[in-house]
Amino acid sequence: MNIQFLGHAGLGVGTREGTVLFDPWFGGAFQAAWWPYPSNQLLLPSLGEAGVRAIVLSHAHDDHANVESLKMVPGVPVVIPTYPSSRLREKVMGAGSRKVVELRPWKEYTIDGMTVFFVPESSAAHDSAIVVRLGSCVLLNMNDARLSMRQLQSIKARVGEIDVLALQISGASWHPMCYPQYSAEEAEAISLRKRATKFGFVADAIKVVSAKTVIPFAGPPCFLDPDLFDFNWDKMFPTQEEAAVWLGKQGASGVEVMLPGDKWDVLSRTKQAHPFWGDFSLSGDRRWYLEEYARDCQTRMKEVLGRYPRPNQNVRDSFQKYLEKLSGMSPYFSGKIGMRVGFELEDTGEAWAVDFCAGGISKALKDCGYWLRFDSKWLGAILTERIGWDDLLLSLRIQLGRDPDAYNEHLIHLLMCAGDRASLQAIESLEKKLASSARETMCVQTNGVWYRVPAQCPHRGHALGPHMVEGGMLTCPGHGYRFDLKRDGRCVNTPSCAALQVAEVQEAGEEI
Ligand code: FES
Repeated sequence: MNIQFLGHAGLGVGTREGTVLFDPWFGGAFQAAWWPYPSNQLLLPSLGEAGVRAIVLSHAHDDHANVESLKMVPGVPVVIPTYPSSRLREKVMGAGSRKVVELRPWKEYTIDGMTVFFVPESSAAHDSAIVVRLGSCVLLNMNDARLSMRQLQSIKARVGEIDVLALQISGASWHPMCYPQYSAEEAEAISLRKRATKFGFVADAIKVVSAKTVIPFAGPPCFLDPDLFDFNWDKMFPTQEEAAVWLGKQGASGVEVMLPGDKWDVLSRTKQAHPFWGDFSLSGDRRWYLEEYARDCQTRMKEVLGRYPRPNQNVRDSFQKYLEKLSGMSPYFSGKIGMRVGFELEDTGEAWAVDFCAGGISKALKDCGYWLRFDSKWLGAILTERIGWDDLLLSLRIQLGRDPDAYNEHLIHLLMCAGDRASLQAIESLEKKLASSARETMCVQTNGVWYRVPAQCPHRGHALGPHMVEGGMLTCPGHGYRFDLKRDGRCVNTPSCAALQVAEVQEAGEEI
């Protein structure tokens, strides 16, 4: 098996007849806010020469399923996972007529002797890992999927030894960057905490998978818009080199940092570096490189941003109806959100507050527990579903605030799944199942006290272990949520997450 790194989360794997591309992304994403770092434009002239046989996409986010990039390889069949939402399929169809193959979880599909199958995250709503088998070689392309350690063990049980594990090492979030309520020091501390959580998850996954080679990838992106340029230095976005150094200190071996065009021969475990890069360093002084990159992409960026004019009054009036529909989409989600949420247009000052407790919409923002402020130019695109809320949030061209300072995950899910009841239903079903299922328990000790706790996280079901407990807190590696064992196991990140069922016990595990 030969793997070529295409930049960001893109991989090209050679088959007998040509190449299969995985999540190819060659330009701006999220309304030209994100760009691959470093640039992978050098690969474009040879893209067609590789004889692209199929494209495999993991999920709908723009840096993985990118319409402009798909258009560069017209007519090539695309293989995607089945999700409750039709969004990914529609996106692919929007990139030109072609065969689209949708695969249910774990269902295998063969292209030129290469077998692929998808393993979705436990909620089955958003992200999927891709398992690739060719001859005796196995690649586990986890990209952004946060699979549980049990799922990773199940993959190994199916395919045996894994040769190459490729996985995301850099966060992708708008928190804390888009929250003006934080001081610079507070924001940096949050970003560092998120980075540590991400690295911790990556280290655990590497241990369980025990692949011969690990390719850290799928980030960081870079931000070339002058309004976003400073985010390039946010601590949440470590480079692959920084991740490799950290992983080396944890004892991980076989970690390979790849640059666009680099090739990896899986059997001989040798890298053929692309000569273009010379002594380029991802973590060196990036400013000069990014400034030049931004100049090169300026015209393209302007053209993309020009597609989003500020709307007329009619569109703004439609927003109220949209919010009414949104607030009535799921009683379960409305109950979990449980607060007033404000939406404010920064250029016109118009505002709407949706009351997810009592129902109704008002024009006064007071008593909102969460608020979002953005330019009206994004409104028309959201109402016509040209972009989703996740596209706007990930573009970082938005400001948010919250009081109390706790993540309202159900609000963010409702926005990200707006118009898509099936995805909301999938999350609701999983949460209800996790809350009601009889679970294994374990005893853990912290600060001299023993507790009996479930062996599975109430959030998305990741396996928990005694080593995750410190200072009275249990931190789940899945998404980094922390549960306070002294305060009834409540989740300190988000009140809408069910608490961990905690009971104080004697050392032998007897109830007190
Ligand atoms: S599974 Fe998400 S924090 Fe535990």
